[in-house]
Amino acid sequence: MRFPGRRRHSTPTTASTGLADSASAGRIQRSGKRSRLFSAFVIVSVAAAFTRPGRTTTRVLARWLDARVGGFAEPESSVYARLFAPFLGRLYRRVADDVAAELTSRGRQRKAMIVDLGCGTGELVLAISRRLRDARIVGLDHSPSMLLWANRHATTDGRLRFMTGDAAVMPFGDESVDMVVSTLSLHHWEEPANVFAEIARVLQPGGVALIYDPKLVTFTDSEMAEIARNAGLEPSEIGRERVRGGLLSRLFVRFRLEGLSEEQD
Ligand SMILES: C[S@@+](CC[C@H](N)C(=O)[O-])C[C@H]1O[C@@H](n2cnc3c(N)ncnc32)[C@H](O)[C@@H]1O
Repeated sequence: MRFPGRRRHSTPTTASTGLADSASAGRIQRSGKRSRLFSAFVIVSVAAAFTRPGRTTTRVLARWLDARVGGFAEPESSVYARLFAPFLGRLYRRVADDVAAELTSRGRQRKAMIVDLGCGTGELVLAISRRLRDARIVGLDHSPSMLLWANRHATTDGRLRFMTGDAAVMPFGDESVDMVVSTLSLHHWEEPANVFAEIARVLQPGGVALIYDPKLVTFTDSEMAEIARNAGLEPSEIGRERVRGGLLSRLFVRFRLEGLSEEQD
């Protein structure tokens, strides 16, 4: 499997802490453990993507590993920024293409308002901004340390912005957003039903949400049906879709939630 190479990011200066020697030794030990967990997670994910038998066991194991891989959020987002995000460039470009195609098919590609939920280091926001030059894109994440990385992509004209906030309490008005997108964040949401209810609230009539999550750690159909009901939606309102494309895409599923139909407005 080949992944596109990416330049290594330098740590944002505001995140540096100036640790003493013993603290850095401890950090090296922890990062060795994280690298091993990361490798195990990648191997299990890839194996599970191609193996039917034992799928439930692999899924449980992958969820367990995922919960233990540090560095997804506070206080060590640099692990995610350095180890994970650089491998996902192809996915972000793929998702950016999907976002552009969806908006174009709805006649909403001009000056669209897009929100990336759980934007992490902001790579997807950047990829979308390259496909849709006049879109306004807000990356929302509850991790200030992730946003230290993401803010490198913010623009002075406010077209690309990053905000600290909870996906379950979005700082946007009702029916104010053309598109909500998210990658690899759903399975981290503490109360996914609250987030889906928020998405339904902020989407404009005719808008859409595309939520991508790793197949192996995300919710099953029955779990999603329960989440939809708790969000005050019909289970059928959250569609589960295959992600088409290359090898990397096979590891993901996409959930789709449509805004109200325009006639209902
Ligand atoms: C695995 S990272 C994915 C980051 C990015 N979307 C990507 O694809 O590289 C998951 C992100 O979701 C964020 N997150 C998890 N729960 C959240 C919530 N309730 N509200 C906002 N952000 C959340 C975490 O802080 C983290 O940055």
